[in-house]
Amino acid sequence: MTAKPTVLHELPADLDREKLPQHVAVIMDGNGRWARNQGLPRIVGHQHGVDVLKDLLRCCRDWGIQALTVYAFSTENWKRPLSEVEFLMTLFERVLRRELDEMVAEDVRIQFVGNLQALPRSLQEEIDRAMAATRDNRGIRFNVATNYGGRQEILQACRALARQVQHGQIQPEEIDENLFSRHLYTSNLEDPDLFIRTSGEMRLSNFLLWQLAYTEIYVTDTLWPDFNRQEFYRAIYNYQQRHRRFGKV
Ligand code: IPE
Ligand code: IPE
Ligand code: MG
Repeated sequence: MTAKPTVLHELPADLDREKLPQHVAVIMDGNGRWARNQGLPRIVGHQHGVDVLKDLLRCCRDWGIQALTVYAFSTENWKRPLSEVEFLMTLFERVLRRELDEMVAEDVRIQFVGNLQALPRSLQEEIDRAMAATRDNRGIRFNVATNYGGRQEILQACRALARQVQHGQIQPEEIDENLFSRHLYTSNLEDPDLFIRTSGEMRLSNFLLWQLAYTEIYVTDTLWPDFNRQEFYRAIYNYQQRHRRFGKV
């Protein structure tokens, strides 16, 4: 690995601007362990995690990455203790309300992907407000997977397509990758080029099962609250050394 760049406000000199991932997807994992390591309640890890995410979004914008998709809450995360679930829902709502003006000013287009109808009403309202307020922004695309599950996403696409067949609107033969993708929550997004998971876990945990089919995977042992621009630089540097073959020789 080359010498560490010291200033990371701009794209580090040894990263190739032409070969930047256009779309980065992240499983922000390890908040609870980070907190436990310091003898603090898990929720403190989630609070720190928000600051890390804010800086990563800015970093993507500063370096010229076009889309960032993060996993905020999985369909399986409802199985956590009620107090933690409630804390997270309130945190999402508070952060959205607090950050919206800045996101508008910084030309961020925020979008939520997942089964949003099952979220608390007040959070849904904040989500609708944020998506509407940033709809015409043309800067970085920021996608937050909330109550998201890859299998559920695929199933709802199947149901929607089955209904169209049932009503005679399409023939089964017309269902191809393109049409199927357009029925996913991510219908207006390109597939991620780079997938990052923190905290060392080597699994997808039901994240973007369809979309990650040919994405490059990078796992770091760093826990999410300790993730920073230096770590992000390492992930992209590593990505740029790879040869993406897409099945070719
Ligand atoms: C990820 O950190 C944040 C969410 C799932 C919301 P965790 O809460 O999963 O942290 P660990 O994995 O228990 O350390
Ligand atoms: C995935 O992390 C979900 C989010 C980061 C929001 P988890 O911590 O819930 O995943 P598992 O339980 O380790 O697979
Ligand atoms: Mg976890």
